[in-house]
Amino acid sequence: MSIFQDIAKLENDNFSDAWSESSLEQTFEYDYNHLLMEKRGGKVVGYIIYSDVQGEAELLRIAVDKSFRRQGIADTLMQNMLEELNESGAERVSLEVRAHNISAVSLYKKYGFKDIFIRENYYHDPEDDALIFQLQL
Ligand SMILES: CC(C)(COP(=O)(O)OP(=O)(O)OC[C@H]1O[C@@H](n2cnc3c(N)ncnc32)[C@H](O)[C@@H]1OP(=O)(O)O)[C@@H](O)C(=O)NCCC(=O)NCCS
Repeated sequence: MSIFQDIAKLENDNFSDAWSESSLEQTFEYDYNHLLMEKRGGKVVGYIIYSDVQGEAELLRIAVDKSFRRQGIADTLMQNMLEELNESGAERVSLEVRAHNISAVSLYKKYGFKDIFIRENYYHDPEDDALIFQLQL
């Protein structure tokens, strides 16, 4: 299995708008998009995808394999992303999350993200508000 096959499987397991293997390949044709991952036994078990366009960063995807959750993998990914963004001189990082995604909201708050905006009923299947979080670096 290639890295993108592993990630596409995790996308399918975790998101109703899963990114396919080919859309993942296309994403990384642009050098402002970045991938960080954690592997176990040669397989990708967690990843972050973020963009950094002239200092404006966006966390686009983060997911950890269900069998490997609550072991600090998202912590490691988040710390590594923030380290890279600090090195690149980025000014802030934003993201969008389902309001009822308790695990993710808790993760973002742990790293100092503040919710700056709410888009009501933004998500469907199931319905949910979108929270926009931002961290000044
Ligand atoms: C959110 C997610 C990436 C966390 O991954 P993880 O590797 O299990 O997280 P970690 O073990 O590194 O935990 C880091 C922090 O995340 C938060 N967290 C993780 N799981 C949590 C849970 N079940 N309940 C509450 N907080 C949780 C906590 O703040 C935790 O810090 P703590 O251990 O000091 O309390 C994982 O649950 C996931 O893949 N979810 C599905 C995909 C998703 O929703 N992505 C976000 C889309 S915006």
